[in-house]
Amino acid sequence: MSKMISGFSKMSKLEKISWLAENYFQDVKKGKQILDQYVNHDEQLQLLHDEFIENTISNFYVPYAIAPNFLINGKSYAIPMAIEESSVVAAAALTAKFWSTRGGFQAEVISTTKIGQVHFLFDGAYEALEAYFLSVKQELIKATDGITVNMRKRGGGIVGIELRDRTNDLDQYYQLHVTFETGDSMGANFINSCLETIAGEFEKEGISIIMSILSNYVPECLVRAEVSCKTEDFFPENAEVYAKKFVQAVEIANVEPYRAVTHNKGIMNGIDAVVLATGNDFRAVAAGAHAYAAKDGRYTSLTQATVEKGVFKFWIEIPLSLGTVGGLTKLHPLAKLSMEILQFPDARELMKIVAVAGLAQNFAALRALTTTGIQEGHMKMHLMNILNQLEANVHEKELIIEEFKNTSVSHSAVAESLHKIRTGH
Ligand code: MEV
Repeated sequence: MSKMISGFSKMSKLEKISWLAENYFQDVKKGKQILDQYVNHDEQLQLLHDEFIENTISNFYVPYAIAPNFLINGKSYAIPMAIEESSVVAAAALTAKFWSTRGGFQAEVISTTKIGQVHFLFDGAYEALEAYFLSVKQELIKATDGITVNMRKRGGGIVGIELRDRTNDLDQYYQLHVTFETGDSMGANFINSCLETIAGEFEKEGISIIMSILSNYVPECLVRAEVSCKTEDFFPENAEVYAKKFVQAVEIANVEPYRAVTHNKGIMNGIDAVVLATGNDFRAVAAGAHAYAAKDGRYTSLTQATVEKGVFKFWIEIPLSLGTVGGLTKLHPLAKLSMEILQFPDARELMKIVAVAGLAQNFAALRALTTTGIQEGHMKMHLMNILNQLEANVHEKELIIEEFKNTSVSHSAVAESLHKIRTGH
């Protein structure tokens, strides 16, 4: 039987589900029941979700949690995080508490501009192209006036347009490299609309526009967050030794890409969870962060650490393109609530909060890795997943959590204990 279909998007939701069930579900009743369990029974709310994307048949939840006790530039925050991975939120909360008694996190926005490019081919002499560009440059900006008027009122807009010759890399390839300031919005639609208008205005015989699109590489939309303390306060015992080990762990990530990718993945556990909880685009943020990690030609750590003159210092510098207005931020009720919990930050403040969440996550990972190892904490948090997989009831869960308080967790050990409880031997 062919499982291809045309006109799927035109079907009603029920028709889509029926088609899917007939063709792909092993157990039609169970499959439909699962889809239905995740549908929101508030019809208006479900409609909102349905209309975020196409062909919606249900919702896919991830847990939404809070990491309290973050002190950032002297102000306290409870940070909302949306993530499925065990231990990420616990690690954030522990780290927040740890640093709240050591002066908290300091964070600053370094820059806020974003880039979009019109990519085109030109087969004539560069001088002629440059002369044309200079003659129409003001017209290009003027053509976007209707689109930029509101943004300009809020202090944003087009900051500059450059003609870039890239023919050394690709035959006939040039760009209009446009810099934007987008205020409190992430600005993707704004930037893309401006670029398409600029491209339309710029195009003429001999110039072949290939595409116009924003860049998710935003090295000039940069934020820095930092923690520091006396080295002796770093750890209850052997603080000097552990602080140095921590610094060495960062240095390893600086020189070894295999480690750097995992190191930065841990940072993104924190970053993406807050980005998602605030309705921002976590794929854009992740792409930009990893590109920044490779900006000097080798993939390296996004954080740095030093121990100097009895002071331990640990910091992150990361590009973050975020919005606090527009997109999902004002549409998704939980994203809106996240903004409320964060005390209605503007985009710059949100950049600081998100960078801190990344730094905190990396701190927790490195401290665990260089002391007890990561598995102890991880497996403790993973215990609930194992118990759920084994379909333990509330009473069995209580007994096993107690039993494994001081013992190392593994799937087989938990299964064995559960078996003992259930069979009595
Ligand atoms: C797991 O999601 C993240 C870590 O692997 C990060 C790291 O190794 O630094 C624990």
